[in-house]
Amino acid sequence: MKLARRLDSIKPSPTLALNAKAKALAAAGEDVVGFAAGEPDFDTPDHIKQAAIQALAEGFTKYTATAGTPELRAAICDKLKKDNGLTYAPEQVVVSNGAKQCLYNFFQAVLDEGDEVIIFNPAWVSYPDMVALAAGRPVLVPTREEDGWVPDPGRFERAITPRTRAVVFNSPSNPTGGVLSAEALGALVRVLERHPVLLVVTDDIYEKLLYTGRPFVQVLNIAPHLADRTLVVNGLSKAFAMTGWRLGYAAGPKPLIAAMNMIQDQSTSNASSIGQRAAVAALRGPMDTVDLMAREFLARRDLFVAGLQALPGVRVRPPEGAFYVFPNVQGLLGRRHRGKALQGSVHISQVLLDDYRLAAVPGEPFGGEGYLRLSFAASRATIEKGLARLRDFVGGLTG
Ligand SMILES: Cc1ncc(COP(=O)(O)O)c(C=O)c1O
Repeated sequence: MKLARRLDSIKPSPTLALNAKAKALAAAGEDVVGFAAGEPDFDTPDHIKQAAIQALAEGFTKYTATAGTPELRAAICDKLKKDNGLTYAPEQVVVSNGAKQCLYNFFQAVLDEGDEVIIFNPAWVSYPDMVALAAGRPVLVPTREEDGWVPDPGRFERAITPRTRAVVFNSPSNPTGGVLSAEALGALVRVLERHPVLLVVTDDIYEKLLYTGRPFVQVLNIAPHLADRTLVVNGLSKAFAMTGWRLGYAAGPKPLIAAMNMIQDQSTSNASSIGQRAAVAALRGPMDTVDLMAREFLARRDLFVAGLQALPGVRVRPPEGAFYVFPNVQGLLGRRHRGKALQGSVHISQVLLDDYRLAAVPGEPFGGEGYLRLSFAASRATIEKGLARLRDFVGGLTG
């Protein structure tokens, strides 16, 4: 079938494809250790589910305003004030079907054909493709493991051209687990101050999963004067184990939010009314489950990192946030598995799934060739089991 040309510039999400293959194997009765998930393995806390049940019982099942109910937008404004020290009015907030839709709407709203968006690599796979779908050009600026994946301000500035429209910050980062400190943000802000037309997107979705011992900071905490060109994106998926509910939100300057709202008006309209009620309960309710989850993730991270560090040829920097370890497996490349030299992260992921029943996402599609992304949204027992399989894999390599 003839499809639109703009689809030529994008590809299916490699993480979803790998997950699908791992799930199919598991469904066929295979004992697969899954480290590919991009979602918490915890259940949505009960008080949040109860709010949804109540919404249903009350018949709260109709369209809402496209941007979300006034009640939810007020709860989001309160959250942004309380947690992040940011002041927004409800008309500066739009609720979408996941943070993903907020980002999609943003790129659709601001990019003309050929406009460039700077993305620090390795990066979440969806950013470049969303930019491409909006006819923009993703400009991938590499970051380095030895710098803690913190972007180099000089490199950032050299990537800016007259076509650059926006830059994406994602801290804690998927896939690296890197975190932008106040100091690192300060250096990036100095570049932004020299380029006043650049818009900033700060994707704060992993805000609550932070292991630095320091409070979460984002660009507007360092540079409040950038508020008129910054979009804050966040959501319920990761902090409240609500990936399936599809609830995210964005806050920003009024004209930008109005434009994003208009795009959403003509595409999906509002996020689910029931989910919005649940989101109010999440944002206004007790945070103990969020804290418990974050503590458990930290314990798992330490277990995973210790096990990986003991593997010859593997190097790992403890992630400072999110729930992914991003080990460097360059020391394994060229070594032989069943006589065949390992060629790259995609090859390693294939071998791990096919021969060790372990689902690991290759770093290559994230712009991190020579790395794997292993999610610790898996129980400690699963992590132990996976580490044993990884030991078998590395121990069995020759050459
Ligand atoms: C960096 C990042 N941003 C945004 C999202 C989207 O989250 P959601 O659409 O579930 O809110 C994800 C999900 O994997 C992510 O990793």
